[in-house]
Amino acid sequence: MIIAVDGPTASGKGTIAKALARHFGLPHLDTGLLYRAVGRQCFLDGGNPDDPVAALAACAFSEGLLTDPELRSEASGGLASRVSVHPAVRRALYERQHAFAAQPGGAVLDGRDIGTVIAPEADVKLFVTASVEARAQRRFLEMQAQGRDVSLDDIAADLAARDERDRNRKDAPLVAADDAVLLDTSDLGREEAVAAAIAAVVARKG
Ligand code: DC
Repeated sequence: MIIAVDGPTASGKGTIAKALARHFGLPHLDTGLLYRAVGRQCFLDGGNPDDPVAALAACAFSEGLLTDPELRSEASGGLASRVSVHPAVRRALYERQHAFAAQPGGAVLDGRDIGTVIAPEADVKLFVTASVEARAQRRFLEMQAQGRDVSLDDIAADLAARDERDRNRKDAPLVAADDAVLLDTSDLGREEAVAAAIAAVVARKG
C-alpha cells in the first residue's frame, strides 16, 4: 500500500506520516528532508539558491548530510523552499522518491507533491492542512523547546512566505490531489490527528 501525505509546513503531516508508517508497518520517506539537504548544500557551497545552476549542483549532496540536525532549522526550510522551485532540482530528486514509493509492499511518503507527481498511483492520499495561526504556534513551541530564540510573528511571516512560494510555483505546486482526503488539524491534538489519519486510511482501503 502506498500512502501519500501532502500539506504545508507545520501542518502535522510529518508526525502523521511517521505514525501511519509505524501503524501499518511501512517504510517512511520525509521528502522535505531531500530539498532541505539541497538548500543546505547550496548554502555550504556559497551558491545562490535562486540560481537554477547552483541549486542543481547542490543535488549532489552526500548521504551524511541527511543526518545533519541543521536541516531541521527554519533557515534550512527557507532555503529548501527556494531551491525547490527549480524544475531541474525536482527532476533530479524525482527518481529517488518514485523508487521509494514503488518498492514492494509499499511505503508512506510525505511532502508537497506526492499525491500529484511522485506517486499519483498511491492507494491513499491525505492532504493535511491547518490555519497559519495554529501552525505558527506549533512551530514556535517546537523551537522554544529546542532552546532557540524565536518570535511568533517572525515564524508566522516565514510560514506565510513559504506557503505562498510553495503554492504558486509553476512546477509541482502544493495542491491537494483531486482524490485526496482533506484533514484539517487546526483544532486537533497530536493523538487525535493521528487517529483521524488512520481512520481515513482504513476507510479508503477497507
Ligand atoms: O516539508 P518541509 O518543511 O521539510 O519542506 C521544506 C521545503 O521543501 C518546502 O517549503 C518545499 C520543499 N518541498 C517540495 O517542494 N516538495 C516536497 N515533496 C517536499 C518539500
